[in-house]
Amino acid sequence: MSSVHVDHGQWSSRLAFILAATGSAVGLGNIWKFPYIMGENGGGAFVLVYLLCILGIGIPVMMAEVLIGRRGRQSPSNSVKALAIEAGANINWSIVGWLGVIAGFLILSFYSVIAGWAVSYIFEAGSGAFVDASPAEIESIFNNLLQDPIKLIIWTTFVLVLTGIIVGKGLKMGLEKAVSIAMPAMLVLLLIIAGYAAFNGDFTRTIDFMFTPDFSKLTYSGVLIALGHAFFTLSLASGAMMIYGAYLPQKTSIAQSVVAIAIADTLIALIAGLAIYPIVFGNGLEASQGPNLVFVSLPIAFGQMWGGTVFGTLFFIMLGFAAFTSAIAMVESAVAWLVEKMEYSRAKAAAFAVITLWLFSMLTVFSFTGAEWAKLDFNFVGKHVTNYFDLIDHLTADVLLPLGGLATAIFVAWIMKKEAVFEEMNMSAKLFSVWFITLKWFTPIAVLFVFLNLIGIVKI
Ligand code: PFF
Ligand code: NA
Repeated sequence: MSSVHVDHGQWSSRLAFILAATGSAVGLGNIWKFPYIMGENGGGAFVLVYLLCILGIGIPVMMAEVLIGRRGRQSPSNSVKALAIEAGANINWSIVGWLGVIAGFLILSFYSVIAGWAVSYIFEAGSGAFVDASPAEIESIFNNLLQDPIKLIIWTTFVLVLTGIIVGKGLKMGLEKAVSIAMPAMLVLLLIIAGYAAFNGDFTRTIDFMFTPDFSKLTYSGVLIALGHAFFTLSLASGAMMIYGAYLPQKTSIAQSVVAIAIADTLIALIAGLAIYPIVFGNGLEASQGPNLVFVSLPIAFGQMWGGTVFGTLFFIMLGFAAFTSAIAMVESAVAWLVEKMEYSRAKAAAFAVITLWLFSMLTVFSFTGAEWAKLDFNFVGKHVTNYFDLIDHLTADVLLPLGGLATAIFVAWIMKKEAVFEEMNMSAKLFSVWFITLKWFTPIAVLFVFLNLIGIVKI
């Protein structure tokens, strides 16, 4: 059975696209993950490497993805297939699209669980559970959540159902509406919390920590993490940017929009650091807390502070908004594919996708509860994995995203006809050359180098 060509419709404006794509980019990656991986990898020097990855790899690849989407106007695999046919190349290049759809799906299977923690913390914070609680008490609130399958399943289900409803309602009534409410609300809340942190926390130490590079603290694995995170935070190689590009009006400049989205994502990650670390440092806590930073350290600090209940609640509402606008992006490419391939209605496709996702999310839920059947014990592409969550997280962030980005760069810069690429980009010849050469040489070599190192072929 082959796919039918479906007219999926388009964003109502350039702004709608930018809001949706920024909504996809800005998420748990910015507010939960970036601050803690920065803390674990020494601060300033890591931030610098990360910024270089965004500039030299992330932005060029995002332009390539949006281009594929807009020229193909279908779900990622069918868009790449159409462009391969246009270029007279093998249709198996559609694997480039498939890699993204699969990665997006796998990421959402754990992302929905963590988004569920954020939603449940709105109620924890709001009920005053952190007020004057000891660090041990706050740690046990988090551990109780992680070890309680019922709670985890309820919150994960909530996240997936709401995601399915939004996506099922369609581009304008669902996605556009959700991002036009959630994104401004998220930004206002983030700025309020950053202002609160600047006045009530240790801002000076935070600035020093984030912006004074100490290269003795940077390890090679820190560079790997920065690269993987550049892909993750910009929603690259996950189907999202390709499918959002597929709805982009023809006259919108891809380059300008992509640069705006990348800058917004980067600024919000930095502001998140500036909002979280003053509170953490100001209360005598350390930077190297790992995944617990937002769910344990921050609540400990909120519990000690003036207005901590209100600002703590607002913080988790903000985190919830950020997570939802990313979740809808991750499921959209699979939904578009189901509409093309199975000729489902959007609502039916969304329901089918989130039910399947729900089943996969159980692998992560039971990894956290420590169920025996979810435990693993083997080495996989350079890392020892201990449960399914570990496996899926590593497989996506460190393997599928870099490989997908590499494949995208190769497809656009080496397989597509340069004239077709130039026509679609519709930008000045000079800037086009800078981008095209970066995508053709720098991006693949840099990604390949880092990846070969991961699997132990190249050692430095
Ligand atoms: N960019 C999102 C974040 O930083 O949280 C995560 C993400 C969204 C990854 C959408 C992939 C994706 F397709
Ligand atoms: Na992000």
